[in-house]
Amino acid sequence: MTMTSFPKLRLIAITASMAFLAACGGAPDGDGADGEAAADQPAVIGERQENFEAIGDAFKLIRSELEIDNPDFAAIGNAATDINGRAQKITGYFPEGTSVDDGYDTEALATIWEDPTGFETAAQNLVDASAEMMTVAASGDAAAVAAQAKEVGGTCKGCHDKFRLDDD
Ligand code: HEC
Repeated sequence: MTMTSFPKLRLIAITASMAFLAACGGAPDGDGADGEAAADQPAVIGERQENFEAIGDAFKLIRSELEIDNPDFAAIGNAATDINGRAQKITGYFPEGTSVDDGYDTEALATIWEDPTGFETAAQNLVDASAEMMTVAASGDAAAVAAQAKEVGGTCKGCHDKFRLDDD
């Protein structure tokens, strides 16, 4: 395997989401724990929101490093790696029946299930952009990292515009 790592990442992403679906099997998750979510809110909704929160935090770290004179490229690389791993898990967190139209406390639009291919592509775009960021961070070139941060941010917006409820 001396080829580019993208096909491998894609494969991992597909495998991961299939494993997730197999593990869930649509069984109701009666997690009655003390979360802030409604009692009948599927746990997977909170899990995907936490995953996005962590993606958001990692992306914030990258942007704040870019604002200082000597960015910590190792930290940027680690954040990109974290985003990459989490991006590969996104599609596995969206079983049918968990959109905002189902009455849950979520910003997931029904368009996710109406256009599953578009959603998968949007997630893959973040997988690819964050993988590229891992490479660019290793180069230690701040301008290149800044340019790639724009690319990564574009994939967030690209997905949110179509698939996330705009509540502002
Ligand atoms: C493939 C689509 C997709 C991509 C790519 C994506 N998001 Fe999101 N994001 C969503 C959806 C859908 C939600 C709503 C999830 C929910 O409420 O169940 C969301 C929610 C969030 C949230 C709120 C989480 C919460 O606590 O409710 C943050 C923060 C976030 N995204 C940040 C980002 C950032 C930063 C990026 C890019 C680095 C990104 N997202 C990329 C689809 C995406």
